[in-house]
Amino acid sequence: MKKVLTIILVGMMIMSMIGCAKDEESTSTTETKTETKAETKTEEESYVGISMPTQSGERWIKDGSAMKEILEAKGYKVDLQYAEDDIPMQKSQIENMVTKGADVLIIAAIDGSTLSDTLDEAAANGVKVISYDRLLINTDAVSYYATFDNRRVGQQQAESLVEGLKKIKGEGPYNVELFAGSPDDTNAFYFFSGAMDVLQPLIDDGTVVIQSGQVELADVGTLRWDGAVAQARMDAILAAQYTSGEVLDGVLSPYDGLSRGILSALTAFGYVAGDDIPVVTGQDAEAASIKLIITGEQYSTILKDTRDLAAVAAGMVDALLSGSEPEINDTETYDNNVKIVPSYLLEPYIVTIDNYQELVMDSGYLTEEDIK
Ligand code: BGC
Repeated sequence: MKKVLTIILVGMMIMSMIGCAKDEESTSTTETKTETKAETKTEEESYVGISMPTQSGERWIKDGSAMKEILEAKGYKVDLQYAEDDIPMQKSQIENMVTKGADVLIIAAIDGSTLSDTLDEAAANGVKVISYDRLLINTDAVSYYATFDNRRVGQQQAESLVEGLKKIKGEGPYNVELFAGSPDDTNAFYFFSGAMDVLQPLIDDGTVVIQSGQVELADVGTLRWDGAVAQARMDAILAAQYTSGEVLDGVLSPYDGLSRGILSALTAFGYVAGDDIPVVTGQDAEAASIKLIITGEQYSTILKDTRDLAAVAAGMVDALLSGSEPEINDTETYDNNVKIVPSYLLEPYIVTIDNYQELVMDSGYLTEEDIK
């Protein structure tokens, strides 16, 4: 029923676009339709739909509000929606934006492969799509990708793990367990591959030992980046592998929300912060994890400044609507199975107790109030 309604509404929009353009030379390409839209609209009339995956991760709230602020200051009408990790909800929110006449969509997908039909429909309506932070795959309806250097993020996570192991645990070999993100998010693959660039040689030469034997993305992934799922897996590994005198030295965790679940499992098992707690990594510089870094429970996180990413995406919107080329700095890495999506990659930063003040606090990413 919803589909029929969408088709009717989309049909009505196409009819009204044909109506507006009836005095102009008729043309059938989507590209020209988009140009017509962009050329005839002022910024105040241009409508940007922002579809974010969830409010359960602190960063997405920051991403959303930073983009809304920047785009509204530029004069765009903005519709910001969160899908609470519910794939059908995200699809219908995007369909609604298209029906309401969005000119550009900025999308951070829950599952990058589930939106192809929705995006094809958007493209048929001349709507331009920017893939935000997470890659949209199996579609050619995506124009640009604004993200961080995701492989580098994974390398940095593993580099900080190894640095922490040497600093806190002394000489190896080290017992380490691996966690990855949601297997339906391409980022999880890039982060894990980057981490393995650093860890695989150490596993091969015996410096790092994975007692559980779980080293494949399929075994170490955490659906929906859910901290409770990571905690349960850590509980199970501790019970199975670390009850006969083995000591766990470190955990590769790709996201602060997972790190906190893992740390709960570790402390419940008897590890103590400031004493024998394993070195645990993270990502996103979430306030709750910065607090744990200050108290010595979590070793590191990765700062990806969402204010900068929001500004990159807003620049892409400007370019798409004015018919110019946005700045990109990567045309090789992000193959979405249909094309290589032109991308702008921002720099991520390792955060530990030694530099959190400068990188996270002095930069204004978090306030003192946030970490009280
Ligand atoms: C983002 C990370 C985030 C994770 C969980 C990934 O796609 O790149 O910054 O930690 O999703 O929300």
